Amino acid sequence: MGAIGIIGAMEEEVSCLKDKMSEVKVTRKASMDFYEGVLEGKAVVVVRSGIGKVNAAVCTQILADTFQVEAIINTGIAGSLNNEINIGDIVLSTDVLHHDMDATGFGYPKCQIPQMEEFSFPGNVKMRETALSVCREVNPEIQVFEGRIASGDQFVSDKDVKDEIIKNTGAFAVEMEGAAIGHTAYLNNIPFLVIRAISDKADGSAQMDYSEFEAKAIEHSVRLTQGLIARLS
Ligand code: ADE
Repeated sequence: MGAIGIIGAMEEEVSCLKDKMSEVKVTRKASMDFYEGVLEGKAVVVVRSGIGKVNAAVCTQILADTFQVEAIINTGIAGSLNNEINIGDIVLSTDVLHHDMDATGFGYPKCQIPQMEEFSFPGNVKMRETALSVCREVNPEIQVFEGRIASGDQFVSDKDVKDEIIKNTGAFAVEMEGAAIGHTAYLNNIPFLVIRAISDKADGSAQMDYSEFEAKAIEHSVRLTQGLIARLS
């Protein structure tokens, strides 16, 4: 198997994984540092993409072209779009879509990319099933869900915006990179999985505790990513 690409948008989401790697070689491209090395006995390329869909898409394309990765995992945090999904819980992507794509003026449904058949980009089933069982082992104290993840260039902290995204997408979680990564991986025929731990309710509530929730969520997502790497063959 070739290397597995692991993308986190923020340094906190990848620094733990970088620390655990051996035989590291760093290559800088498009202002991003790609850490090639070994994690849990597997060849990996770990990279911080930066926040937002453009950074994430550029990063994914470099993983495809320069590192020829065989699979891509996106680890990080997200806002919950479902009352049953609590802060700290994990959502694994069944599929991802762009909640801010809007060609409704041409008669397309909200989120549909014009002149493209796909409404959303499906995550890899085997990676998701493996992640599900690994998550129950390594994060037994939290719930894990399988569902759609919606991405946009927007931090969602307003209840009306949140409700609109739920109505348009039926997604379980909202964040700012997963769809760009899944979309780019799909175009390159690379299997992918988005793993997101919930840091907030995407409605502006509990803002005071955000950094504490964020740290806990990152911990869960990183622990699962490491466990998943160990299991993928
Ligand atoms: N990442 C974590 N929480 C988020 C939110 N509420 N909106 C967008 N991205 C997020």
